Amino acid sequence: MVEAFAVASGKGGTGKTTSTLALGMALAEEHDVTVIDADTGMANLLFHAGLESVETTLHDVLVAGGAPAEAAVYERFGMDVVPCGTSLAGFEAADPERLRDVVATLAADTEVILLDSPATLASKSAVLPVVLADRVVVVLQPTIPALSDGLKVQEYAHSYGTDTAGTIFNKVSDSEDVTRVAEKSERYFDGPTLATVPDSDAVRAARRAGKPLLAHAPATAAAEAYRNAARTLDVRAGEAGAVADRFRSAVIPKEPNPGP
Ligand SMILES: Nc1ncnc2c1ncn2[C@@H]1O[C@H](COP(=O)(O)OP(=O)(O)O)[C@@H](O)[C@H]1O
Ligand SMILES: [Mg+2]
Repeated sequence: MVEAFAVASGKGGTGKTTSTLALGMALAEEHDVTVIDADTGMANLLFHAGLESVETTLHDVLVAGGAPAEAAVYERFGMDVVPCGTSLAGFEAADPERLRDVVATLAADTEVILLDSPATLASKSAVLPVVLADRVVVVLQPTIPALSDGLKVQEYAHSYGTDTAGTIFNKVSDSEDVTRVAEKSERYFDGPTLATVPDSDAVRAARRAGKPLLAHAPATAAAEAYRNAARTLDVRAGEAGAVADRFRSAVIPKEPNPGP
């Protein structure tokens, strides 16, 4: 039984990787969780999870005749973590379409899959995790332009049958910003506001320490916000075989934009 989430945003640097690992650790208290760095062009999950020196990464799995998916799975912080390499050569050699099989294979043996996704609006293959997922978690800063980017992600998601799990407002420095944006957000996004995560030195320090926030600074307000978000998610258990079939047969969209 499995549900797959894409943790996504329109642009980079919003906190997708931070959020993926934080949600993953929180969900791992109750579920078997597999976290996959599906941001194969701008991978950075390995740095957040202390996995930068591992031998085999997703890049090695995504090449023709490459390593089996299991070879890139590492048990860390109570989760199964699949990091991706950072070299340009690795990215260029990788076939993003193979991600479908990787996710399908790993789906057989886990309850929650979190896909740390690329900036969705960046390129054609960047939308694949959003296409594959059951639901999308949109990560954004509480500004009107960011909201507009997030809505495009939701529009993509919905056009491929992916529901909205909710939104995470991240790097919040002024709670008035959220109040101003949240009302619009609740009107336009299908899901609830899952979390309001403060801009926090602890989050930056966790990244420098190579640990997920919930391992490095579990007692902070930011960590608590993610634990609450995980509780709100209310994981649905899809039948693993059906989910795997859906992943394998998913078609990468030709058009990078869903249109106006
Ligand atoms: N709530 C936060 N407060 C402070 N810094 C943050 C917060 N969330 C993320 N960051 C920092 O912002 C940078 C980008 O975050 P990251 O999760 O890697 O984003 P993405 O994966 O979307 O590119 C990292 O250095 C991270 O430590
Ligand atoms: Mg990232």
